[in-house]
Order: sequence, then C-alpha cells, then structure tokens
Amino acid sequence: MLWTFAWVDEAVRILRPGGMFCCYFDRDKINFLSRYLQSKYSFKLKGYYADLKSNPVPQARKVKWMNGWEIIGMWQKGGGKLTYNYKLGQAPDYGIRPIVGNTTKEDGARVHPTQKPIALARKFILYWSNEGDYVLDPFCGVGWSRIPASQHNRRFCGIDKSPKYCEEARRRIAVKDTGVPVAEQLRGQVGLFSNP
Ligand SMILES: C[S@@+](CC[C@H](N)C(=O)[O-])C[C@H]1O[C@@H](n2cnc3c(N)ncnc32)[C@H](O)[C@@H]1O
Repeated sequence: MLWTFAWVDEAVRILRPGGMFCCYFDRDKINFLSRYLQSKYSFKLKGYYADLKSNPVPQARKVKWMNGWEIIGMWQKGGGKLTYNYKLGQAPDYGIRPIVGNTTKEDGARVHPTQKPIALARKFILYWSNEGDYVLDPFCGVGWSRIPASQHNRRFCGIDKSPKYCEEARRRIAVKDTGVPVAEQLRGQVGLFSNP
C-alpha cells in the first residue's frame, strides 16, 4: 500500500476542494484506501460502484469461481461544493457489461489486457464533473477516459508509464477527435446508461 499512498498523496494535493476521487482498486484492499482518504484527508465516502462482467474469463485452473466483478471507490474531497449531476437521472451503483474485445463499436478491438469500456468512464465523468472541469487519469492505459472527457468538454490530463499504451491512446483519440458533433458520434452506439 505504500506506493499507493505515495501517488494518492499527489492526487489529493492537486484535486480541487470538493472534487471527486474515483478509483478501481483491489477488492481485498480497498478498505485500506478508504480509511486512508478518510482519516488523513477527511474525504467523504460517496459509495462503491460494482462493475459486473456478463462474460467473465473462465478460471483455467478450475479451483474457484470466475472473477465476475470489480470495484470502484468514490470519495469527495472536503472544503468545496460537490458536483453530482442528478438531473441526468437516477442511476444504480452497479453496471453489467461485457469485457472489452470487439464488443462495441465505440471501444473497437481490445488493445490493452485490462481495457475498460469508454461508456463506463463517460458515466463517471458526466455525473461527477461539469463542463470545463479537469479530469486526471494517472493510469489511463489506452485512453478510455480521455475520449469521453473531450467529447463532453472536460479538460484532461492522462498518464501511463507504457510508451506503447500512450501511442495506442493517441491513435484512438485521433480517431475520436474528428470534429464530428457529440450527438453524431454517439448515434448508433451502445446505450449510455442501459448497459454501462
Ligand atoms: C488497469 S490499466 C488501465 C487501463 C485503462 N483503464 C484503459 O481502459 O485503457 C492500468 C495502467 O496503469 C499503467 N501503470 C502501471 N504503473 C504505472 C505507473 N507507475 N505510472 C503510470 N502508469 C502506470 C499500466 O501501464 C496500465 O496501462
């Protein structure tokens, strides 16, 4: 956890007062992260999101059930106004979706072993930020969060240690940054909230 606490300290430092910290994390250890944010920084827990997979990867060794879900924690920094765009409608703290791999037109082919669906990043960005806000993704892989951030007029900073994934992210972003209006880009794609 020490390495996690080191990068979390930096993320907390630059997060605006009232801003949201959302993070996929190890199910077994997420409670340590939550305690850290609440006790050291007085963050407020806004809940946990269960990211359920409709087609989990089979267990090759056949000694336990398949891993069918992941968890995302959501915490708010104190000292400022909460952004929660409730006018988008009631939404549950879970979603069911297939793993990425030629499954949706928007995601395209799987080019990262743990690639997440763009629609899921979009859901978080739309509910927990406003136009003009900054989204920071310090582990952005092949750009899943950058694509919806720019489509919905959020400023964005993405980091990944892998030059290969950064290059792939640039390629995917170039395809999305076509200048085509958002409504046009979304037409014919998988429903935003029906199957995040
Ligand atoms: C779970 S993947 C994120 C995938 C991303 N959600 C997507 O859909 O493309 C985590 C990423 O963190 C990156 N990573 C791991 N350690 C890192 C570090 N110390 N600094 C920056 N990136 C790192 C990995 O290269 C990997 O792409």
